[in-house]
Amino acid sequence: MELINTDVAIIGAGGAGLRAAIALAEADPTLRIALISKVYPMRSHTCAAEGGAAGVIKSDDSLDMHFDDTVGGGDWLSDQDCVEYFVKEAPKELTQLEHWGCPWNRETDGSVAVRPFGGMQKQRTWFAADKSGFHILHTLFQTTLQYPSITRFDEYYALDLLVDEGRCQGLTAMEMRSGMIKQFNAKAVIIAGGGAGRIFPFTTNGAIKTGDGMAMAYRAGVPLKDMEFVQYHPTGLPNTGSLLTEACRGEGGVLVNKDGRRYLQDYGMGPETPLGKPQLKTMELGPRDRVSQAYWHELQKGNTVSTQWGECVMLDMRHLGEKCINERLPLVRELAIAYLGVDIVKDPVPIRPVVHYMMGGISTDMQAATPLPGLFAAGECACVSLNGANRLGSNSLVELLVFGKSAALSAIKHIQALPAANVANAAALAARAGESQARIRALFSRTDGTESMSGLRKEMMDTMEKNVGIYRNEAGLQEAVDKIAALRLRYQNVVVNDKSNVFNTDLFQVLELGCMLDCAEALTVGALARKESRGAHQRLDFVQRDDASYMRHSMVYYQGLNAPRLDYLDVVITKSPPGVRDYSGDHK
Ligand code: FUM
Repeated sequence: MELINTDVAIIGAGGAGLRAAIALAEADPTLRIALISKVYPMRSHTCAAEGGAAGVIKSDDSLDMHFDDTVGGGDWLSDQDCVEYFVKEAPKELTQLEHWGCPWNRETDGSVAVRPFGGMQKQRTWFAADKSGFHILHTLFQTTLQYPSITRFDEYYALDLLVDEGRCQGLTAMEMRSGMIKQFNAKAVIIAGGGAGRIFPFTTNGAIKTGDGMAMAYRAGVPLKDMEFVQYHPTGLPNTGSLLTEACRGEGGVLVNKDGRRYLQDYGMGPETPLGKPQLKTMELGPRDRVSQAYWHELQKGNTVSTQWGECVMLDMRHLGEKCINERLPLVRELAIAYLGVDIVKDPVPIRPVVHYMMGGISTDMQAATPLPGLFAAGECACVSLNGANRLGSNSLVELLVFGKSAALSAIKHIQALPAANVANAAALAARAGESQARIRALFSRTDGTESMSGLRKEMMDTMEKNVGIYRNEAGLQEAVDKIAALRLRYQNVVVNDKSNVFNTDLFQVLELGCMLDCAEALTVGALARKESRGAHQRLDFVQRDDASYMRHSMVYYQGLNAPRLDYLDVVITKSPPGVRDYSGDHK
């Protein structure tokens, strides 16, 4: 097996991975950095983010207000020391992007423009039309090109972490164009591999978001934290699941039911605001969990619109006018025309909530360090405990910048603290890499498998959709836990039909399915055990938030094919005691 020696290996070349690589290269030009990604960096999912990135910049705003919105929006499950750090770093990171060339929209006086976003009491979302993720990713990617210490391994599928003497010292990865497995020895590893939204059938997530990084860490003994909190974005395009950005509502778009009623006023987000004058933190600018839950109630009441793509409500932006739409929401217009044949300038567009983001992930502290020495994580794959039970829109693009950089700085500290004489045990690492290779070979060469990848994947997705949606209950969650456990057993019998070595997408999809099943296990086990309603986790059988029992992070530990072990970790409260979330418009 080819051996590649590096100082830091980064898994994932989206926003968090690229930001980490830049921070490493800037801090110490002598460090060798391996940037490993299963896709070309500009195809990373960060590219799909649309509406913008939150950071305090205007004089009527403050770090305390951004803190309050984030903690309240997260239903008091965020670690508040982490949120304090985040809101302080956010404007610095967004300004840094500006200096690297990110084309933020401007006010007429030339200052950076911001737009309203859900759950935020002030306008603080920096944006580049409705292609903010694309421009952020491009800015980061072009910046990495100036550092010769960053070596890219595009189209490498990361397989297993190499753990020896109680610390992470590298990984194995398959070069996708040849099928060759390579061993990367590294003094530190950063996972920045994105979320696992693809365990659900209707999602904004790109096909690559299969929880590979989460599963790698989980299998290596690192707990997955708060996995039961899955964000439904209120405005998904039916049929495809493509995102219609929250900026549609930030710019003044409204949601109406089959009777033309702006129904959010009936769910604690009223009174109705005048058309064309969106009011912060209420009605269409309520937080994502509440707005998605309101859709579910409208569906139960029969108030939704039956369309050829299923039940929907309507997002009406006609009153914004063509000029505003073309300037601020050009991609939204393009998507609605391309996929539904609806021109938002002339007609309301049908939408429904769609799985968008995972609040949970690889457990890290606020320096992005996991409990496994030498392993760090950032971005959606990580749970640094910023977002609590419900992330506010536009916090995640900043999260990957702030904590991508933290992961890099923590990795450097870890490397500096390694004793000079502490050389890696080459034989032990080679043995670990050999085990990884043997695992893949056994899977690849099996001829007696009886299970198909696509069949198992469909059953997984159907189970998640049916039982682990916006509202949940004991019977459904128990069914999901049992089903995922059974699917994990049946996965041992899955067959890879394609036996070729070159870009074997059949093999990669089998590997991805294994990762998704592990993530689904942690998610369903956490959800069944959390007998309360908080943020994005709503139980029909436990409708209240229960701070006495559950103001804690769930921590799920991998136990092979046995049921995982579940534990809890206290939430860090610094200055905001748990309170009532108020989106009634009375909070001003
Ligand atoms: O709606 C959006 O543009 C998504 C933003 C986000 O998830 O932060």
